[in-house]
Amino acid sequence: MTQTRVPTQDNPPTRVAVCPGSFDPITNGHVDVVRRALTMFDEVVVAVATNAAKAPLLSPQSRVDLAAGAVAGLPGARAELVPGLLADFLRQVGACAVVKGVRGASDVDAEVPMALVNRHLAGVETVFVAADQSLTHIASSIVKDVARHGGNIDDLVPAGVAAAVYEALSEDHL
Ligand code: PNS
Repeated sequence: MTQTRVPTQDNPPTRVAVCPGSFDPITNGHVDVVRRALTMFDEVVVAVATNAAKAPLLSPQSRVDLAAGAVAGLPGARAELVPGLLADFLRQVGACAVVKGVRGASDVDAEVPMALVNRHLAGVETVFVAADQSLTHIASSIVKDVARHGGNIDDLVPAGVAAAVYEALSEDHL
């Protein structure tokens, strides 16, 4: 039988935040955002979703598995697949906030419309966190481009991710 945890003043409700993205693949920049989110929320769900404007290299399950491995050492963090609309997922996991990392003005321009639609549909606010200055050059698209041209991406992504990217790229060329 599942026990319901009744929130009280001494036992406040668990605050769940969602870090959504394509995570194709997850990078050290994403993990930094999850770490920052964990300083503000009890649980952080890395939510692997579909961006209709992008054609991903990795399968949804592979992106979830790599994200799960990347946050395995962070208590309170987990990775899940978003099967459809992010707003539905936010309600499903009882999220009180979305957390997104921003590296600069172009990220803010892209993120604000998504924040507004998620607030409109689910009533959930988005918290923007400034990316670590040492990681602002990292983006999944750049990681894939470096790897596609034979460059080393080991310092840009969590352990195990580089191998999965190289493997997917080799299959992509078949
Ligand atoms: O890492 P990205 O590609 O910038 O992340 C964008 C993503 C995947 C979070 C966004 O496209 C999304 O929320 N997709 C799920 C479908 C959805 O809810 N669309 C409406 C909000 S944009």
